[in-house]
Amino acid sequence: MESDPKTLCFGEDVAFGGVFMCSRGLLDRFGRARVFNTPLSEQGIVGFAIGAAAEGYSPIAEIQFADYIFPAFDQITNEAAKYRYRSGGVYDVGGLTIRAPYGAVGHGGHYHSQSPEAFFTHIPGVKVVMPSGPREAKGLLLAAIREPDPVIFFEAKMLYRTAVEEVPEGDFMLPLGKARIAQAGTDITLVGWGQQVRVLELAAKEVAERDGISCEVIDLRTLVPWDIDTVAASVNKTGRLLVSHEAPLSSGFGAEVVSRITDRCFYALEAPPVRVCGYDIPFPLVYEPLYLPTARRVADAVRHTLQHS
Ligand SMILES: *[C@@H]1O[C@H](CO)[C@@H](O)[C@H](O)[C@H]1NC(C)=O
Repeated sequence: MESDPKTLCFGEDVAFGGVFMCSRGLLDRFGRARVFNTPLSEQGIVGFAIGAAAEGYSPIAEIQFADYIFPAFDQITNEAAKYRYRSGGVYDVGGLTIRAPYGAVGHGGHYHSQSPEAFFTHIPGVKVVMPSGPREAKGLLLAAIREPDPVIFFEAKMLYRTAVEEVPEGDFMLPLGKARIAQAGTDITLVGWGQQVRVLELAAKEVAERDGISCEVIDLRTLVPWDIDTVAASVNKTGRLLVSHEAPLSSGFGAEVVSRITDRCFYALEAPPVRVCGYDIPFPLVYEPLYLPTARRVADAVRHTLQHS
């Protein structure tokens, strides 16, 4: 916001810091013209943001919980995603960034726990980014804001309170579309994004200690575009693939990863690729511990997959 006076930051409760305190202090530093609260209207927030972006601003619009992004689905998929294309490149809304907290926290129930990323990966024209920690969030968010295409940026609520990490000071960007090898390994490739990367790391630790299995953990970072080459190179090496996300199994982004990697790495695979995901049910409240793809479920799937030989 310091380097670009056309950057705006707004959404429900954003001016006083936001429910997760992500925008704390911004109003004092940048003033009411650039940091402000909106009415409780998601289609209004995104519609306004599209208009501002079309006029050359870089709006950072916040949807307070990803579960409530759906009233703005039309604005995102039919307007933001198509703006450049339908005007033959004359207009675009490339400055647009939409931030939304997603995922389970232990008590959110069905309206404060969902992971809706897959819906937005089906819409050519918007990019989808999901950081796995504070350092990643800073580097990827700055890249998303400066990206010349609209970006949806999902932040794991769980990580707001549990992740502690050194973050580079000053201007720091990470490239969109480049996965990160969170942990190198040789027996199986585990792919995730956002909070689930932490779960995969726990599972990898468990099977390393108990079963001597070596996992390569890949943090996809960006779902659109996603780094097929890094995952394919890993699966060519390990011969096994597991993808995991909190969102329900069916038509989740894991299906896309499995399909594309099966195309590329068919002859390297030594076992069927596996997905460890949420179940195909509304996100449950008291049954959350049974719904979630926990480290225990991932570890069991890893052991099972390693039995194919
Ligand atoms: C993986 O191996 C296949 C051949 O089995 C090859 O076509 C593909 O390029 C390899 N991918 C990478 C990224 O190494």
